[in-house]
Amino acid sequence: MNNQLISIKNLVKYFPIKKGVFRTTVGWVKAVDDVSFDIYSGETLGLVGESGCGKSTTAMTILRLEEPTGGDIIYQGKNLAKISKNNMRKYRKDLQIIFQDPYSSLDPRMKIKDIIAEGLAAHHMLNTKKRYQKVAEILQRVGIVPEYMWNASMNSVVGRGKESELRAL
Ligand SMILES: Nc1ncnc2c1ncn2[C@@H]1O[C@H](COP(=O)(O)OP(=O)(O)O)[C@@H](O)[C@H]1O
Ligand SMILES: [Mg+2]
Repeated sequence: MNNQLISIKNLVKYFPIKKGVFRTTVGWVKAVDDVSFDIYSGETLGLVGESGCGKSTTAMTILRLEEPTGGDIIYQGKNLAKISKNNMRKYRKDLQIIFQDPYSSLDPRMKIKDIIAEGLAAHHMLNTKKRYQKVAEILQRVGIVPEYMWNASMNSVVGRGKESELRAL
């Protein structure tokens, strides 16, 4: 049990349905209602279901991008559902959402190397030189020759018909 990465217990997220000028809550959308699962190190978990069944809300709530209505999110011995939003910051570098559509999640005018470096910079990881070394390593790891991408922007990569490489990022 010691290689358990994250444990979700009885996760609940209700969205209020508001009506009228006073925005009175008249009901609740039960987007996530009592969801529990554990993920172990090296494991991949697929969450499958029809559109609107609560897959995205489950992910957003685990990351506290939506506030959970109830339940526990146990990660590294901490209950992420109970800590302050401020304290959540140090876990954001481990727990991330990768959105499906590279066009809406990556800035087309930014250079690829800066898109990757931005995440490291946001978490104050490494100095500028080391950050770019790390970016080169990451590109290599996903099968992209760093020299080829180094000064490329999103736009120019799309122009060359290399969308699959963007998805790898
Ligand atoms: N911010 C929100 N406010 C109100 N209802 C929402 C909000 N986000 C999602 N929902 C509702 O919660 C339910 C689950 O949505 P979602 O998690 O996006 O489903 P999925 O990702 O499985 O398609 C849907 O009924 C959706 O309309
Ligand atoms: Mg979704």
